Amino acid sequence: MIYYFSGTGNSRYAAEKIARKTGDRCVDIADIYKGKVKSVVGKSDVTGFVFPVYYGGLPEMVRRFVTNPEIKNRLGSYVFAVMTCGGSPQAANEKFEKAIGRSVDLCASVKMPDNYVIMYEPPAGEEALQLLRKADSKLSGLSDRILNRESYGAPAPFTKRATSLFMYMLYNPFRTTLFYRATDRCVGCGMCEKICPDNAIKMSGGKPKWVKNRCQHCTACINRCPQRAIEFGKLTEKRGRYNIMKLGQEESSE
Ligand SMILES: Cc1cc2nc3c(=O)[nH]c(=O)nc-3n(C[C@H](O)[C@H](O)[C@H](O)COP(=O)(O)O)c2cc1C
Ligand code: SF4
Ligand code: SF4
Repeated sequence: MIYYFSGTGNSRYAAEKIARKTGDRCVDIADIYKGKVKSVVGKSDVTGFVFPVYYGGLPEMVRRFVTNPEIKNRLGSYVFAVMTCGGSPQAANEKFEKAIGRSVDLCASVKMPDNYVIMYEPPAGEEALQLLRKADSKLSGLSDRILNRESYGAPAPFTKRATSLFMYMLYNPFRTTLFYRATDRCVGCGMCEKICPDNAIKMSGGKPKWVKNRCQHCTACINRCPQRAIEFGKLTEKRGRYNIMKLGQEESSE
């Protein structure tokens, strides 16, 4: 069983790639919390977790999920974690192992397009496609290691542990929903409400309202709104958007 969390599709893509090669089943952690998947099903020989690195650590929902005793009791004899990131995973591996309360057999990061549009311009076009091709090759290698039940992964050096410690403290205050807003471009389609993994958005009077003080900060609403109508304060106004499902189509749709 492979549990994944994904805002803009990278981790879902990675989980599905691994599952295709290993013959495992993928489940979206957000679907479990939303009650779309009845509960955590069965116990299999292999348990995998695929998720994005946030602030040198893991998304709140992933941390909540793996600290749940029900999950800990259902871990297989081989446990792996694959973390997608923009190239600086810091010591997210250690944060994950601390949360799950044990060392895992394979723990690796895979560089993919950085979706953190609140901080950076996301890669687009050929640059993003190239990152994806490199990720494909790394994911293929990792899938082979998983199939062979190999141990893989190295402890993070002290400097990365120190950076993770500092960065991860910023995640909670930064995942405020205070600065999200829908602009006049919003056509009230409701897609943002549907895709939010945290049920943090509710449509009201044909416009999205952020109904929680904090969310996962996954950027799905900002990056995937079909009208490009969601902004985070002024920070995102001049930036592009990242959506793995649309990669390669940017030129034709503009
Ligand atoms: C809130 C947030 C924090 C992030 N922090 C990091 C980070 O510390 N290091 C890094 O390399 N990438 C970071 N990223 C980039 C994502 O980890 C990366 O783009 C990931 O592949 C996105 O996965 P997803 O499409 O499955 O949501 C961050 C992204 C977000 C939204
Ligand atoms: S996805 Fe975009 S256009 Fe649709 S309701 Fe949300 S903000 Fe409006
Ligand atoms: S409100 Fe937006 S950024 Fe926050 S969890 Fe929902 S989709 Fe992700």
